[in-house]
Amino acid sequence: MTGLFITLEGPEGAGKSTNREYLAERLRAEGIEVLLTREPGGTPLAERIREVLLTPGDEQMNPDTELLLVFAARAQHLAEVIRPALARGAVVICDRFTDSTYAYQGGGRGLSLERIATLETFVQGDLRPDLTLVFDLPVEVGMARATARGRLDRFELETRVFFEAVRSAFLKRAEADPARYYLLDAAQPLTQVQQCIDALLPKLVERVRG
Ligand SMILES: Nc1ncnc2c1ncn2[C@@H]1O[C@H](COP(=O)(O)OP(=O)(O)OP(=O)(O)O)[C@@H](O)[C@H]1O
Ligand SMILES: [Mg+2]
Repeated sequence: MTGLFITLEGPEGAGKSTNREYLAERLRAEGIEVLLTREPGGTPLAERIREVLLTPGDEQMNPDTELLLVFAARAQHLAEVIRPALARGAVVICDRFTDSTYAYQGGGRGLSLERIATLETFVQGDLRPDLTLVFDLPVEVGMARATARGRLDRFELETRVFFEAVRSAFLKRAEADPARYYLLDAAQPLTQVQQCIDALLPKLVERVRG
């Protein structure tokens, strides 16, 4: 038995963290085992790497360092949490995963997508999410929500140009593979976003039950 690997993607303030619990509860109500986790992080060691990635500091982080730290945390997370959960047949819902690496380190920082793909295969082998929900919204809406939430992390301090590149990268990936990606208009009121998630459920449940 192998479980189902679902990732939630999109820029800051899009509503990934707000909706992950909603999706998890809907699946649990069907009697499905759900493991909810996030990146960067998801294990104590990977959460320490998250701190390094998100905390603003005096020394500028080299983009390659950033990329390698993201994948270092991911290797730990996969080995300790994600792969074991999938192996026992659970549904894994992960708040951000490798699409964020393509969007932030690729789109935002301008690192080579080929290099990211090489690391993706190195760290993940052939494991890719079965389904990716992309929460899309205009940059200014996301930034306003993130700013209202409180102190900004190292990424949230980036420029508008950076976030436009991040958004385009997510959209490009979603458009290239409509079978895997489910694009949501995250600028809508929360109840409507949740209706879009509800629309996905019957097929999802059917897929889990095989
Ligand atoms: N559809 C919505 N309409 C209005 N506000 C929303 C909506 N969805 C989420 N919010 C609010 O926007 C803020 C950011 O949401 P959330 O933390 O879920 O975003 P996120 O995608 O997890 O962002 P990050 O990538 O920074 O973690 C929260 O205060 C949340 O309550
Ligand atoms: Mg979040």
